[in-house]
Amino acid sequence: MASEAERPVPLRLGSIAPNFKADTTKGPIDFHEFIGDNWVILFSHPEDYTPVCTTELGEMARLEPEFKKRGVKLIGLSANTLSSHEGWIKDINDVTGSLVEFPIIADKERKVAYLYDMIDYQDTTNVDEKGIAFTIRSVFIIDPKKTIRTILSYPASTGRNSAEILRVVDSLQTGDKHKVTTPINWVPGDDVIVHPSIKTEDAQKIFPNVRVVKPYLRFTSLPNSA
Ligand code: BEZ
Repeated sequence: MASEAERPVPLRLGSIAPNFKADTTKGPIDFHEFIGDNWVILFSHPEDYTPVCTTELGEMARLEPEFKKRGVKLIGLSANTLSSHEGWIKDINDVTGSLVEFPIIADKERKVAYLYDMIDYQDTTNVDEKGIAFTIRSVFIIDPKKTIRTILSYPASTGRNSAEILRVVDSLQTGDKHKVTTPINWVPGDDVIVHPSIKTEDAQKIFPNVRVVKPYLRFTSLPNSA
């Protein structure tokens, strides 16, 4: 077991996404170069040729144009080989009618998986034939400054919600652009919340119609083009 000093610093919201080099289905990458000036969603799945993962990757491929519209690049990962990924992608395209065009990292040695803490030691059902832990269903939303803005983890038994991933991207990008936060179940077009750091008298000059519910809870709409 790693000593306290050897244990890697856990990744948190606000951490810089650690860089790595890896082989992917679109060729070798340096992750920071891959990010460039884009938003990136790095997401892992437990294992190629498994049912839930097939539906997830197909859906992410179907939604890729929506992510692209928002300046987001997708990149998948699992602890499988390139040839496994390449064969499985044909199945995904066949089964879901999508076209997987984003790269998938072949992390057979689990180097990136450990770097990003994508291995769940607790879930004893999520292991390969040798009992070695698979990657979990992780999602890292990374901004163009290479800062980790969102981390999601799902159990192997539960497919992710692609609409929620897209919604979080919309919330983060809207928040960055307008200095607002977004309430429960917010979707684009709904009213947003004025950031607590903005005084109400200033908010009334910046936003079209500020509705003060409590001094700390102020809603506003945004212009349609926002
Ligand atoms: C699946 O994708 O269906 C799956 C993968 C690993 C464990 C359980 C389910």
